[in-house]
Amino acid sequence: MNFEGRTAIVSGAGRGIGRSHALLLAELHAHVVVNDLGVDREGRGVDRVPAESVVAEIVAAGGSASANHSDVSSAEGAAELVEGAVQMFGGIDILINNAGVLTGHDFPFTPVDDLRRNLDVHLVGAFELTRAAWPHLRMSDAGRVVMTSSSGLFGDLDLIAYGSAKAGVVGLAAGLAAVGARDGVGVNTIAPIANTRMSDPDPVFDSFTPRDVSAVVAYLAHSDCQLNGVTLAAGGGRVARIAIGESAGHVQQDLTIEDVADNIDTICDTGELFVPNDMAGYFRAFLGRVSDRKRLP
Ligand SMILES: NC(=O)c1ccc[n+]([C@@H]2O[C@H](COP(=O)([O-])OP(=O)(O)OC[C@H]3O[C@@H](n4cnc5c(N)ncnc54)[C@H](O)[C@@H]3O)[C@@H](O)[C@H]2O)c1
Repeated sequence: MNFEGRTAIVSGAGRGIGRSHALLLAELHAHVVVNDLGVDREGRGVDRVPAESVVAEIVAAGGSASANHSDVSSAEGAAELVEGAVQMFGGIDILINNAGVLTGHDFPFTPVDDLRRNLDVHLVGAFELTRAAWPHLRMSDAGRVVMTSSSGLFGDLDLIAYGSAKAGVVGLAAGLAAVGARDGVGVNTIAPIANTRMSDPDPVFDSFTPRDVSAVVAYLAHSDCQLNGVTLAAGGGRVARIAIGESAGHVQQDLTIEDVADNIDTICDTGELFVPNDMAGYFRAFLGRVSDRKRLP
């Protein structure tokens, strides 16, 4: 599987996991636009060196790449990045929304600015960049978007702001997958785990290379990949699906508080989880279950 003739934008590709995506896609013959604002882990400062050194590394290995230093959380930055990519390589086939920051405070000491910073980079950034790139992705015969979420979406007491933004990314991807089904663009998400400055020097993750994550991202970015609206966990060589689903639940007429209490175990039993592809599919299933109620005595 290679990317001959394809152009990919990778945001936040100056370091860590994004750098690894850029190197792998370039190795597999894609033209790669290496975007990075060059901020610290919390999103402060600006540095042109990370993006430029990744481009130098790709070019030295015989690949094709161009650096960009836009802030993807702004509409102007996103537009500039997309315009630059189109001018340089003539179109966009692949967008990897990877740029990220991490701030952690125990709740209720999490300031709202923390939440805003995380939402701005992860959610608004992915929204703006995908919006700017969409007309070009539609024109590609195999437009692909890969979003970056996190296990933080499952909830952690230190990561309220980060986890909220990463859960938002999954919602954004679900909506864009519905649009993508109409427009011929595949939109999927990864929840990576890899040893970078963001994951903290935790020895448990020493062997979790960014490259293992990039293999999954490259698959999702490839024209052969027919998935849409799927979230894959990737880390340490393991790949698995993360899905939002609904239990079979309990249905009856004239539901009372006692009925809810009496059936709470059935209501919460995820043994028969239904994972809808989109909201329309969700409502079809929901209405089907409610109409079963009418057949009850
Ligand atoms: N490392 C992990 O285990 C892990 C786990 C879950 C999710 N993630 C996610 O994976 C992605 C990459 O993380 P990483 O570990 O490589 O982190 P990293 O800090 O090493 O790299 C992130 C890069 O994004 C860039 N960036 C930040 N804000 C930007 C902006 N507004 N515009 C352009 N570039 C910007 C930074 O300069 C940095 O180079 C992030 O979205 C992160 O939340 C990482």
